Amino acid sequence: MDTVATAVELRARIAAWRHEGARVGLVPTMGNLHEGHFSLIDLCRRQVDRVIASVFVNPTQFGPNEDFARYPRTLAQDQAGLAAHGCDLVFAPTVEEMYPFGVDQTVRVEVPVVSAPLEGERRPGHFAGVATVVTKLFNLVQPDVAVFGRKDYQQLLVIERLVRDLRLPIEIVGAPIVREANGLAMSSRNQYLSAEERDRASLIHSVLLGMQGEVNVGRPIAEVERLAASILEKAGFVADYAVVRSAQTLLEPAVGQRDGLISLIAARLGKTRLIDNMPIDPNAPIRRLFEANHVPPTNLLTNL
Ligand code: PAF
Repeated sequence: MDTVATAVELRARIAAWRHEGARVGLVPTMGNLHEGHFSLIDLCRRQVDRVIASVFVNPTQFGPNEDFARYPRTLAQDQAGLAAHGCDLVFAPTVEEMYPFGVDQTVRVEVPVVSAPLEGERRPGHFAGVATVVTKLFNLVQPDVAVFGRKDYQQLLVIERLVRDLRLPIEIVGAPIVREANGLAMSSRNQYLSAEERDRASLIHSVLLGMQGEVNVGRPIAEVERLAASILEKAGFVADYAVVRSAQTLLEPAVGQRDGLISLIAARLGKTRLIDNMPIDPNAPIRRLFEANHVPPTNLLTNL
């Protein structure tokens, strides 16, 4: 497995594969790879002949007070993991290679509407940064398939919309969330958490399960959301949102809507901002939420 850093080298490699008739897949990443990322590589591997992973910490998707500078950069370790998972080529460009006119003068790609709520409200400009870099990567690689994790659910919707609107002939595949044994969704940002916070962070998954149960027993959605946020706050999180939305549009559900829903949470624990989500399965075993002070996360759910 080789690593290339320039568009010219990348295009030359892909041209040779295309000449052989190979189908090409892309897994865009910001590096600091964990089992969640490797599951994307494995999924891509099953669909195409050649897998490319990009490793690029994209400055345009970070806000001025976010963690761009301290975002972990671990290319050597990433390369070893990617090779072990059968990745064929790593594209690890510099900022200058991706933004030849500088980040301030880049052509920008905006995906309206679906970028607006939730993460879009809390992180202005984030999705324009994601859409811009992903469009650049799609243009360079022209993959048949591109794989993204479902943990960044709104990002997946933004990219699906982008591909449909620009009529790019790329199949977008959403890969299931990979969780730690305690339920915490895997994320590069989990390493900012202390051991104690990591334990406590499993509450987010428990609350998502509980939100599903509450919706499925018919509890009004506004109440489910209030309860979920309050449980998180009482456990020491600052909840940016804990909501139930229509899974296709991220709009608030219609009155009585019980199908096609998803619950989404963004919450800060100490200095770390965590996001997670769970499509609501109307047939899932019912687990209820209840509010109590100082109850360990595992006791916050009851089985009916
Ligand atoms: O999900 C990510 O890691 C990033 O947002 C992506 C898609 C690689 C774009 O920089």
